[in-house]
Amino acid sequence: MDLVAEPSAPTAAELLEFVRNAAADTNLIASLPLDPEGRTWVRLEGPGGSEAWLIAWPPGTGTGWHDHAESFGAFATAAGELKENSLAVRLPASGWKTLELHEGVDRERQLGAGRARAFGTHHVHEVLNESGSEHAVSVHAYYPPLPLIRRFSRTGAVLRLEQVESPEDWQ
Ligand SMILES: [Fe+2]
Repeated sequence: MDLVAEPSAPTAAELLEFVRNAAADTNLIASLPLDPEGRTWVRLEGPGGSEAWLIAWPPGTGTGWHDHAESFGAFATAAGELKENSLAVRLPASGWKTLELHEGVDRERQLGAGRARAFGTHHVHEVLNESGSEHAVSVHAYYPPLPLIRRFSRTGAVLRLEQVESPEDWQ
């Protein structure tokens, strides 16, 4: 009898290790074309069936607020610097259009080249390259592969659900 092992789901630590290693791969990073007019990306083979991307961010670009549903993930900055704004709160899954955020839920971190972070399911964030002159390049991995991304707009403490996108729209 043949026993064929199913690929096992990656752990958060494995995704973190993957994005760190990929971000340190100078040939890989140099292979990504940069465009001053907008983000560029290539899909990578992530570990254990995860979804992974190499993304370049021109100065002043960002994702806007979004979450990744049931997917957890990790990302690492390979060049330049990214800022992540995130919320230390779990949003209701559905049944709302606007939410007023409590004080104290905002988190901020700067991820310079070589820095990485993992995040859990239901993570809500936006990622920005605030530089006025430098591109940033980063590596991202998600598991399970992203099913849907919810996009939000934010005015002060009020978060509004704008749309639900598939990853193809998001890219
Ligand atoms: Fe994200």
